[in-house]
Amino acid sequence: MPPSGLGPGALTWDLPTQPCPGVGLVLVTGASGYIGGRLVGELVARGYRVRAMVRSPEAVVRDDWPGVEVVAADAMDPGSLAPALDGVAVAYYLIHSMVLGPLEFAVADISSARNFRSAAEAAGVGRIIYLGGLGPSETILSRHLASRQQVAEELSAGSIPCTILRASIIIGSGSASFEIIKHLVLRLPVIPVPRWGRNLSQPISIRDVLKYLVGILEVPQSGDRTYDIGGLEVMTYAQMMSVLAELLGKRRRFVTVPFGGPRVVGYLVSLLTPVPAPITLCLMGGLRHDTICSKNAIQFEVPFTPIPYREALIRALGREQQDHVATRWSDAYPPAHELAPQLHQLRRPPRYSARHELLTDRPASDLFAAITRIGGREGWFEANWMWRLRGAFDRVIFGVGTARGRRSSRGLRVGDVIDFWRVEDLQPDRRLLLRAEMRMPGRAWLEFTVDESGGRRRLAIAAYYATRSVWGRLYWRAFQPFHWYIFAGLLRQIEQRSLSPGPRQGSASPG
Ligand SMILES: NC(=O)c1ccc[n+]([C@@H]2O[C@H](COP(=O)([O-])OP(=O)(O)OC[C@H]3O[C@@H](n4cnc5c(N)ncnc54)[C@H](OP(=O)(O)O)[C@@H]3O)[C@@H](O)[C@H]2O)c1
Repeated sequence: MPPSGLGPGALTWDLPTQPCPGVGLVLVTGASGYIGGRLVGELVARGYRVRAMVRSPEAVVRDDWPGVEVVAADAMDPGSLAPALDGVAVAYYLIHSMVLGPLEFAVADISSARNFRSAAEAAGVGRIIYLGGLGPSETILSRHLASRQQVAEELSAGSIPCTILRASIIIGSGSASFEIIKHLVLRLPVIPVPRWGRNLSQPISIRDVLKYLVGILEVPQSGDRTYDIGGLEVMTYAQMMSVLAELLGKRRRFVTVPFGGPRVVGYLVSLLTPVPAPITLCLMGGLRHDTICSKNAIQFEVPFTPIPYREALIRALGREQQDHVATRWSDAYPPAHELAPQLHQLRRPPRYSARHELLTDRPASDLFAAITRIGGREGWFEANWMWRLRGAFDRVIFGVGTARGRRSSRGLRVGDVIDFWRVEDLQPDRRLLLRAEMRMPGRAWLEFTVDESGGRRRLAIAAYYATRSVWGRLYWRAFQPFHWYIFAGLLRQIEQRSLSPGPRQGSASPG
């Protein structure tokens, strides 16, 4: 019987297991990430006392996390882990550095897992639950899957019981795999499939992943065990794309090609989809293997029927259409963190800046509503082709480009991505500060402000740029002439669009 009194909108309402809030404090690491960001709300809805561990607390302001304690800690910095783990009974380990790219993530992931296990042992944590990747144990795995397996071994090596869940492709709004499949289907009338594209996998919907993650916490005997979690169907990647093509009403041909290693394909996929090369290279490497469930005991421990692949796609498309994408792969992109200091953290203000402003009678709220619609599908209002060209160039040199778009076209929150920017500060009706994540020889910010000025509103855009290199200075000089042209037009466009402000700023509901 489903437990009563679950919070509103909980995906886990029909779980056959019973909530056990008496288990104590539950820590969710990777809470700013795709899975962790959704898991916190589900645990809260089920009555658990939850602590969310993130590296950058200001990046996770969530409406669906009432009563959640947010702690800042970095698994690469052992000293920061002790306070985060203090008093914790169960820890979800959802830390992953894939966004660092194939050369760096494995080392970072192993060190993080080792540091975390030691700190958890010292803090007396009773159990670790880890979600890793599914892959055959008898073959030489891709770097990505091998690293996921090594992290599992590292976490299980100590005295704390460690439950390992292993998943293949996760389908949900905002998941990297879903966005890759969707963009390939939308963009390519003929889809080339390399030989390894005929490998099999067992895609699972994000809602079923969350149900298994929560359900296994409620099965006491599952302590030191490994479970594979998957959906109902075993499919090739071509089959997955073909189902989506049919749903989207697209006629697509799949042609098997004898060339195209995962590296080349990974790079090409990054140019055709919003997902940048560091991630596509890792994911494509993983496609070299069949990723099918073999340890199926979870079907008895947490018995429910996962939704079919087609339904997972329909739900993901529906979430996108309703503009209710709760978390997205881009939420955890690393330049947001230690690699990128915030504007107010710089020891001295950036040496280069450019500012443009206009006075208007439009209300601040309408102007700000127009500002917060910028980027994504609406574009950059003025000289859009220039922004796109810069984005395309960024993609070619392994940057994030503009194709990442936005999580939601209506809502913005700190930490959200807007094309090649990330929201660093958001003060409703007053200030939007974006930090550049495109590749450039320096650090850049773009600030939109609205102030009162003599009974009117002063709408301003400012660019800030910090660099120490000669290339950096040349870069600024080269782009300087465009600032006046772009910013003046952008201010006019914001004023004009504020006449039809559209939906108000808000954040997405979980799902
Ligand atoms: N998403 C999928 O499709 C999928 C499929 C199969 C398995 N999985 C598994 O599910 C787990 C979670 O994946 P995800 O998709 O949620 O990953 P994600 O969106 O990339 O999030 C990774 C999280 O790890 C955090 N992190 C990275 N380095 C850290 C460090 N040194 N200290 C503390 N936190 C750190 C990130 O925080 P910052 O925001 O601070 O960077 C982020 O919150 C992974 O183990 C992955 O293998 C995911």
